[in-house]
Order: sequence, then structure tokens, then C-alpha cells
Amino acid sequence: MNFIVTTIVGLQYGDEGKGKIAHQLSSGYDICVRFNGGPNAGHTIIYKGQKLVLHVIPSGVLAGVPVNLIGPGCVFDPSLLKTEIQSLMMLGVDISTIFISQLAHVISPYERKIDAMMNGKIGTTGKGIGPTYAHKAHRIGVNLGMLCDRGCEDVAQELFLSLSRVYRQSWLDVSAEDHEKWLESVEWILANVNIVSRDFFLGKKPEVLRYLPSGRSKLPEVLAEGAQAVMLDNAYGTYPFVTSSNCLPSAVQSGSGLPGRARAIEDVIGVFKAYCTRVGDGPFATEILDISLADKIRKAGGEYGSTTGRDRRVGWLDLDELEYAIEISGATKLYMTKADVLSSDVVPSVMVRHRGESFEFKPFDVYSPDGDGYGIHGSFAEYYQFICERLSRNIDVVSVGPKADDLIVLPTAL
Ligand code: IMP
Repeated sequence: MNFIVTTIVGLQYGDEGKGKIAHQLSSGYDICVRFNGGPNAGHTIIYKGQKLVLHVIPSGVLAGVPVNLIGPGCVFDPSLLKTEIQSLMMLGVDISTIFISQLAHVISPYERKIDAMMNGKIGTTGKGIGPTYAHKAHRIGVNLGMLCDRGCEDVAQELFLSLSRVYRQSWLDVSAEDHEKWLESVEWILANVNIVSRDFFLGKKPEVLRYLPSGRSKLPEVLAEGAQAVMLDNAYGTYPFVTSSNCLPSAVQSGSGLPGRARAIEDVIGVFKAYCTRVGDGPFATEILDISLADKIRKAGGEYGSTTGRDRRVGWLDLDELEYAIEISGATKLYMTKADVLSSDVVPSVMVRHRGESFEFKPFDVYSPDGDGYGIHGSFAEYYQFICERLSRNIDVVSVGPKADDLIVLPTAL
């Protein structure tokens, strides 16, 4: 059986506002899946007027999507996942639609500790992501299936022994309390969340169909919600200042367990900010070095890490990088976010870099002077048209605020 897939991918360094877009679009889908990353991500969503950050759970959980899968390409921390699920329960969200693949790897307190010890090198989120993916590649990691089959205590002991052969003892020094909390959280996940096998999407009548409304005549539609972004991709980003997973649409099939014929690269929504931010270390050619200006944009755009609370570094849009990200990701639709942030209250002018040249624009006013809502007019229209011309394509949707309807949808989006 086949599936129709739409992928959402960040075209910069993460934090492009993918959460809002995914939340907005997900209601029409049968399945929503996270195919990469783990609790390093933080998709910020306004839900019933409240700000909510989803770290590993697909945003379709808030939109009544019947299946929300944490896929085989993800890693997750049982304690954080438990907390995330419990906060959804408190909001009255139906958590029976959350599924996790047995092949997803599990972050243990050891990996968190190791990440903290190694963090200085590139400024990771410190959630244990890199060590967990590394141990998976080393064949000493732990996936959810192993915990189901062999029991948590035994598997934890085995992991500790394997790691002891690689790391100094002091790097594995985790408190008994953390260890207990981990074991207890794993048990809680095993008891409360749907766990699915490698073959969830495979075969003539795949298991996933059991969870979709019966009597459907169309192929199931999947929304693959990318975490991090092209420039943080483990291979194609600014290595070594990258994350540990593959963030491109080409990783969707393996990261979700979809059959190879499900073409996740055919319908790709590429999301980028009207400016650019980056957390952690690494090159940033258009970074704004004027501290007070960067600070003003940071405050206006709420540019603080949704997972770590760290200040995001702020810079201008880099069209060379954006061109690269569009090409390598195969984005078929472009969404520009946070255009409202660059208003005259915040910036004296707006810069863009392309082919070694800098271009200057007046600050934007995305509200119509006639009082009829948002629109592409005045100085923002000049910026918008310049970018479309330089990219030789349309920007299909512009987001101008955190709320669902703060959007300008261009005819090309339809
Ligand atoms: P890690 O993914 O925690 O190993 O961190 C590696 C790099 O990716 C660091 O620079 C992080 O700040 C960055 N990073 C990881 N996840 C995200 C994200 O979801 N948004 C933005 N940056 C991220």
C-alpha cells in the first residue's frame, strides 16, 4: 500500500516557525510523523490561546489527527516524553493518538551526562541527542523494542557495561535518583503509549489502517514534520556545527518507516524566517554584531531557545544559504515567517545578503494602511519581490504573527 506524503522542513538553522505551520496544516491529515531528532527540538504552538512547546510529539496530536507517530529516525528521553504527554493530558488532549516506533532510540541519563561533558565543543542542547545517535551507530544503544523484549533493568545494566568500556567512570556518574526516574518513566511509557513495530506502514493492509476511520477510499495522507533544519543536517549542514540526525525530506522514508514508494520529496514545504537566527556555535555570515540591534530583534521576535531558553544569535537573511537549502531539500512551496518582527519600532533598516553583496530595505509594515488587515504592500512588498526575483520563484505564504490566522496566503499556495 502507498501513502501520500507532505514534508515540512526548516531551511535555516531551526526555529523558523515550523510548529505553527505544522499545527495549522495537520488537521487535514490522517497521520502526522516526526522522522528525526528528539527533545532538542521545540515546536512552539498557540493552542486554545496558550503557548505550548512540543518537543517530540507531532503537532497533529492537537488537531485530532488519528495517528501521531514518533518514528524510527527519532530519539526520545522517557522522562521528558512522560512530562510532555502529561501536560497534554492536563489540557484535555486525547493522547491515545500518540504512537512510538520500537526502533526509536532511547536517551538514558548516561547519554545526557556524556552530552553535558562534550557540549562545550559546539554548544548542543545538552539533551543527550548526539551520544544517543552515536551509540546507535556503535551498536551499543538501546531502542524501545529492546526495552519491551528484555526489560528495563537488564537493558540498562547492559548499556552501562558497554559504555564503561568506552568512557571514563566519571562520565557515567549519574545519580540513583535520575536512574530510578528513568526506569519509572520507561515503564510509564510502555504502559501508556502505543508502541508499533518496524512494519507499521508496510504490507497490503498495514497495521496503521486499524487506527484510521474506516470506509476511506483515498490513500492515507501523511504530514512529516521535520525537526531542526537543512543547515543543521548531519551531512549537508555546517558540519561539525550540526545536529546528529538527517533533517532533509530524503530522510523521511527511513525516519518514519514508510514504504520506499511513498515519495516524501514530492510535496515539500520549506520554511524560513524573514531574517535568520542560530543557537549554539558555528558560522553565521550575516550575524548582526551590533549587540543592541540584535537584542531588539531578539526581544521583538522572542528569539530564545524553546528547549534551552538560550539567547538565539540574530542575523539577516542569507540568500546564498537559502538557495542552497531550497535546492538540497527540494522545497516545492516556500513559507516566510516572522515578517512582522522587522517593523520600524525594531529596526532602522533591513539587510539581505546575496552573492557577496548586501542590500538594504526600509523596515516593514505588514498591516494595510487602509485598515483591512495584513498584506504585501509598501516596503514589505519591495523586500518580498526582491527575494522572489532573486530566488526565481514565489514565496507562497507569509506568516506575520504567532496566531493561526496571522497569515498572508498568496494565490500560488492554493
Ligand atoms: P544537539 O542537536 O542538541 O546535538 O545540538 C547540536 C546543534 O544543533 C546545536 O547548535 C543546537 O543548538 C542546534 N539545535 C538542535 N536542535 C535544534 C532546534 O530544534 N532548533 C535550533 N537549533 C537546534
